[in-house]
Order: sequence, then structure tokens, then C-alpha cells
Amino acid sequence: MPRNERRRIAVVGAGARAEMFVRAITEDHAETTVLVALADVNQARMDAHNRWLTAAGHEPVPTYPAAELAALIAKERVDEVIVTSMDSTHAGHMVTALDAGCDVITEKPMTVDAESARRILDAQQRSGRKVQVSFNYRYNPVHEMVRTLLAGGEIGEIGSVHFEWLLDIRHGADYFRRWHRDKANSGGLLVHKSGHHFDLVNWWLGAAPTEVYASGRLFFYGEHGQRHGYARDYERVHGSPEAQGDPFALDMAANPRLRELYLDAEGEDGYLRDRNVFAPGVTIEDDLSVLVRYDTGARMTYHLTAYAPWEGYRLMVNGSRGRLELEVVESDHVSPTAAGELKGAAVHGTTEAPEQGGVTLTIRPFWAPPYRVELQPHTREGHGGADHRMTAVLLGGQTDPMNRSATARDGALALLTGLAANRSLQTAEPVRVSDLLDLN
Ligand SMILES: NC(=O)c1ccc[n+]([C@@H]2O[C@H](COP(=O)([O-])OP(=O)(O)OC[C@H]3O[C@@H](n4cnc5c(N)ncnc54)[C@H](O)[C@@H]3O)[C@@H](O)[C@H]2O)c1
Repeated sequence: MPRNERRRIAVVGAGARAEMFVRAITEDHAETTVLVALADVNQARMDAHNRWLTAAGHEPVPTYPAAELAALIAKERVDEVIVTSMDSTHAGHMVTALDAGCDVITEKPMTVDAESARRILDAQQRSGRKVQVSFNYRYNPVHEMVRTLLAGGEIGEIGSVHFEWLLDIRHGADYFRRWHRDKANSGGLLVHKSGHHFDLVNWWLGAAPTEVYASGRLFFYGEHGQRHGYARDYERVHGSPEAQGDPFALDMAANPRLRELYLDAEGEDGYLRDRNVFAPGVTIEDDLSVLVRYDTGARMTYHLTAYAPWEGYRLMVNGSRGRLELEVVESDHVSPTAAGELKGAAVHGTTEAPEQGGVTLTIRPFWAPPYRVELQPHTREGHGGADHRMTAVLLGGQTDPMNRSATARDGALALLTGLAANRSLQTAEPVRVSDLLDLN
């Protein structure tokens, strides 16, 4: 493709996740895409990205305040906007970009409430532009295999799903250090994290959720640390002698990437990346049970634990001809010295976790012995290799016969399971998804 025909892309939200997209645009897909601007509410973070671009041999790009997105789009002649800002800010940027005639790729969750999901869907319809939600888990080869097996009828019609997801005390704790700990910013883990899992089930089953019941609580983090004997008396790690030796403390000063992106940037907006996970003020849950009914008739029981000793998940799918069982161990334990570190993928350049992982996928047919499904070797790089495979489709134009590229409707459906579950937590009643947002 001639260089002047490359798609002109702006990235809004210049935090950790933006780096994956910036690298994909400027390196892996430089033939088809060009980064033309960054926008954020924090200049220091945008400057850090520009320093990293320069160090990698690229030109720095113009930076804009996020509130000037419409002007940025016009001035830089943007074709496509990638939204990687804090969750609760996605919708405003998406609507601005769509109304300015741009296509949009947004990080998950698409947004954090039903009203803004409606605004996104309306803006898409009125503009006729394309929205893609970057549900990277769909692009994990293991998850593709599950979809192939289920869609191919390997276990017949799906009756029910049992899905348990464990976040370990390193990764899980990270949602309690910063903006995610406030439900208004992230929608809580049922929206921010489980949205990935709910989307996978929608995609695997070719189904939409109709009714949701949930029960859950904050059990481990926040003030509950007192009861469990983990609490220490400090607000944030940097500059707090009380944080010395706390296995839950994140030391930003020790990591050049974290220092540049957050510590050196906090003077502008007061965004603290290293809060005490047991400090008060947490409004999200860490232990959640959800029951979902789907339009195909299938049911799901789902559980998320955000304080587990190992990280991974177990999926069991019961069908009219047998059962599929998947176990994925991403880390079999957290090393004592690594509890306060980030997972390797969270910020490029941080230490990879040394613990062991593995995947087992088994089909158990009726009246026949079970058999293991052959899989590619497990990798922890870029979410099991999924990030590279996703950007090849979203930015590189690779064909997508499995429909992994998620639409705004898919984004809304994944969100609605979490939102209905959140409402059920409040009312202790089952919630009809169509009472929150009617997608018909
Ligand atoms: N798919 C995945 O695997 C994955 C992984 C990590 C993060 N994410 C998603 O990526 C997004 C960013 O997460 P992160 O980990 O990079 O967080 P981060 O805190 O590192 O970055 C968020 C950025 O948003 C900026 N921001 C805040 N308010 C803004 C506004 N009004 N307008 C524009 N920018 C604003 C902040 O200044 C910051 O630079 C989130 O939506 C998150 O859910 C997805």
C-alpha cells in the first residue's frame, strides 16, 4: 500500500495498554497504518510514549488534550480512533470520533453503563462508521479451538456452562491499587474483567444473555485486610516506610516504565498507581457468583475470585453428546517476592512471572473414552499470543473467518451481563437484560 494511503490512527488514552497498540501500528502494521496523534488528560504520559517512540527509531507524534479530540481528528485527518483510556471515559470519545466520521477500535469494556452503551449504538447507526471492541481473549488459540469444537457439534447442543476464573494475589491485587477500585470508573470486576469471560461465552455459544442473577462481596481487599491480618497503615507505597516488605506493595520507583508512566506523571492529575490494596474506599467486589440464562436455553454458573493463590480458569461445557473440559493454569503460584509486581504483560518491560503454566483441553463423549485435544504450546506473551493475532485482524486487515472481531452489539452484550449482575447484587433479584437495554 502506498504510504499516503495508510490508515491514519489516533490513540486516546496514553497509559499502559496504549503501548501495545502504538507498537502494533508503528512496527507490526506500519505498511497499512500510521500513528498520527495521541490524546490524554495527562501530558507527561503522552510525553513518555513519545520518548519510547523516539527510542525505537520513530518520529514523535503530536499530542492533544483529550477534550480536544474533535479538533485533533480534523487537524490530523484521522481515519480511525483507538480508545485506550479509563473505562468510564470510552463512550464520550467513541461518540465524538464516530460523529466526526471515524471508525473506532475500543478497549474493553466498551463502556460502563447502559445509557452510554445506547449512545454509542446510536452514534454508530447515525454515522454508519465501524466500531470494533478489542476482546483479545477471542484471539487466543485455545479459545478459538473451543469455539471450533462447540460450533462443530463435538458435544452436541449446549445445555450448560460452568466457568470459574481465578485472578491471583499479584494480578487480582492490581485492580485494588488504582482507578478500578472505584466502581464509577470501571463498572467493577463484573464489567471490567468478567466482561471478557461473558463475551467469550456469548461467542462460543452463539448466544445472548437474557436473565442474570448474582451474589458477591468484597471479601479480601480494602478494609477486610484488617480481619485477615494483611493490613498496614499507609495510603500509597511511594514514600511510605510502612510499605517496606509488604508483599502487596507495588514499588514504582524500582521500575523505569512505571516511574515514567505514572510516578513522574502524578503531579498533573493526582493519579496514584500504587495505593495500599487494603486502604479504605474500595467500592468493587473481589468474590462474585453469577447465574446467566441465554436465549438458546443454555445456562451458566460463573465465579470470579480476585485473591487466588494461582491464576487461571476452568471451563466445563455440558452438551447433549458429551462434555468439554478446559483447564488453563497461567501461573501455578505467586513467588513471595513477586506478589507486588505486575504481570509481565501489564506494562511492557516488567519482569515476566517465573511460575509454571499449562493448558489441558479434554472432550468426554458419551460411550467412548475421553480424548485430549492437541494445542499449540502455551505462551504468556501478549495474553497467550492473542494481542498479536488480534492486531493482525484489526490493523493488518487479516481475514477473520471465525468472526473474532467484536461489534458494538457484542460489546453491549458482554457489558449487559455484568451490568445486570451488578444490579442483581443491589436488588438480590434476577434481572432481565432487556430491562437495562433493548438491543432488538
Ligand atoms: N484487553 C486487555 O487485555 C486489556 C489490558 C489492559 C487494559 N485494558 C483496557 O485498556 C484501557 C486502559 O487501561 P490501562 O491499563 O492502560 O490503564 P492506565 O491507567 O495505564 O491508562 C489509562 C489512561 O487513560 C487516561 N485518561 C483518564 N481519563 C481520561 C479521559 N477523560 N480522556 C482520555 N484519557 C483519559 C489516563 O490519563 C491514562 O493515561 C482500559 O479500558 C482497560 O480496561 C485492556
